[in-house]
Amino acid sequence: MSGPLILAIESSCDETGIALVEGGRRIHANVVASQVALHAQTGGIVPEVAARAHLRWIVPVLEAAWQDAGCAWSDVAAVAATYGPGLAGSLLVGLNFAKALAYVKDKPLVGVNHLDGHVEAAWLLDPDEAERAEPLFPLVALVVSGGHTFLAEMRDHGDYRLLGQTVDDAAGEAFDKVGRLLGLGYPGGPAIMRAAAGATRRDVRFPRAWLGDSYDFSFSGLKTAARRIVDAARAEAGLADAPADIPLPAEVVAELAWGFQDAVIDVLARKTLRAARAAGARSIVVGGGVAANRVLADRLAADAAELGVPLHVPRPGLCTDNGAMIGAAGARRFLAGIRSGLDLDARPNLPLALPVPVPLALPPAGP
Ligand code: KG4
Ligand code: ZN
Repeated sequence: MSGPLILAIESSCDETGIALVEGGRRIHANVVASQVALHAQTGGIVPEVAARAHLRWIVPVLEAAWQDAGCAWSDVAAVAATYGPGLAGSLLVGLNFAKALAYVKDKPLVGVNHLDGHVEAAWLLDPDEAERAEPLFPLVALVVSGGHTFLAEMRDHGDYRLLGQTVDDAAGEAFDKVGRLLGLGYPGGPAIMRAAAGATRRDVRFPRAWLGDSYDFSFSGLKTAARRIVDAARAEAGLADAPADIPLPAEVVAELAWGFQDAVIDVLARKTLRAARAAGARSIVVGGGVAANRVLADRLAADAAELGVPLHVPRPGLCTDNGAMIGAAGARRFLAGIRSGLDLDARPNLPLALPVPVPLALPPAGP
């Protein structure tokens, strides 16, 4: 083994993920039970439904991970689990399961920040993948997911300085909402990417919110503009009074999907490149579900090449939520000597830069 083997558990939102990761890099197993089909029925995540699905699937996911890994409990150095940010009920299932395993198997517990996991995914190697250059510090990291959008400067593993974040919706949330407006279902991100690829007219212009020189993002104006543009397109197609489930013609949906995606990507790419230049970054790392977007990755790759800075974007399955990214971040924390007590509480609003987990305060003694 080159470094500690971490058993890692992710359950912060709607994917139950369990992985075995060696030395913060090499994946031995990475099993994800996705709830996408479940939440597509309601057009979005219902928190209690998500928590119950984690409860249903967490043991089968662990069993599948052991089968893939070909290793044993005696090889495991620690159990890592996401303790925030995320949906409280979802976090509680994975964190409590991790605690039970750590307790019964007498292994250290390492609480992991989900956002740190999205960044550390850039270091992961698939089981049969050849060695590949690691991101170099200092780097600039862009995390774009369904719940978060931020830019940070990273000077070492776990050492973050937040540069900017969304002041309203996350980028993925905007994709999901506009996907719904365009009648593309849930989740909107992959559906918009597929629809946009088929656009023949590529000149629809959606507004960009630059917010001056700041590295903050805003996507709610874009969502409002999308509603206005979709309403105008429906009127033009003679659908103004038609029921909402009668869709726009496919080519109009494709054009609007392209225009929306282009606006989001333009803002994300320009701010990331400006931050990389200003920070003197030696690498750019991108993570989170929206980083699974090929058009975003291609645009960033072209811009980063122009700046002469290597870009690291995980493969799509490692951009969306998974256990391996928690294993990568968990190993770095384990190697830094960080251990969480078995009283570790879930932190739904955990910020990025909080290196040491805060222990749960005991309730005041009763009378
Ligand atoms: O990181 P993630 O799996 O979960 C959170 O931590 O939120 O991100 C999910 C988000 C969803 O909003 C989804 O629409 C978006 O990532 N997403 C994409 C793509 N694939 C997933 N957005 C744009 N293009 C994609 N290909
Ligand atoms: Zn995530």
